[in-house]
Amino acid sequence: MQLPWLRKYNLLIFDHTDSTNNEALNLAKSGVEEKFVIVAGEQGAGRGRQGRMWQSFAGNLHCSILLPNINNISDNLWQMPYIVANIVADSISSFKLSSNRNLPNIQVKWPNDILLNQKKLSGILLETLTVNNIQYLVIGIGVNIQKYPKENMPYEATSLIDNGFIIDSPEEVLNIIMVNFDQLFNKWQKHQNFARVKTHWLSRASNLNQAITVFDGQKRISGIFKKLSDNGALHIELSSGNLYEIFSGEIIDQSQL
Ligand code: BTN
Repeated sequence: MQLPWLRKYNLLIFDHTDSTNNEALNLAKSGVEEKFVIVAGEQGAGRGRQGRMWQSFAGNLHCSILLPNINNISDNLWQMPYIVANIVADSISSFKLSSNRNLPNIQVKWPNDILLNQKKLSGILLETLTVNNIQYLVIGIGVNIQKYPKENMPYEATSLIDNGFIIDSPEEVLNIIMVNFDQLFNKWQKHQNFARVKTHWLSRASNLNQAITVFDGQKRISGIFKKLSDNGALHIELSSGNLYEIFSGEIIDQSQL
């Protein structure tokens, strides 16, 4: 398989590690100044958002992209959840589908989950670190290709295979994500304009104009998901009719309320 992005990124492949995000953070701590992609066949302690664990199964994709020297984008890092979600969702739309299956409904769930027919397919964990004045961004991406967690999860999950996609290997999924990432991230970096990112994200947003409950880390807020603002905040309309802005958190599944 041709991996055209390999000219710009160092690739590290582990059969097994605790977490590819941890591997990336360790590289950052050692002061590397090159871009890395770290992939693991399996993770013993995969990490998710909100301090949750990410269950990793052989045959799924577990990868992290390490970007050093991100000082030029540090004011706009808040856009990254939307950019990466767009890239992963675009990549999934381009995968081969079995002839007897219809393309599932591919959606993004605020801020950066990817859903297939309302079930979680992929999660993204963004982390930053500064070491010796070098700012690093770690973009951790997990995609359920073969298997997905079925129990003790705060949401329903699914896999590419269950939805009729034909995937030869996790490397194939990684390659398409990286080709798109390299192209779209570089393009965005030039102007760092949120308008196009936002329009694209909203075109596939789950729960738009619907009643949602968001956990912002401290409390649950319920209302109608009205829009994203130009600074990336989620706007919900409260029962009073007032709009309420939320900058970070996650939408809680109705079944968990
Ligand atoms: C989420 O909670 O939705 C985010 C899940 C992110 C999982 C990926 S798997 C590769 C990378 N390494 C980790 O430990 N986590 C991310």
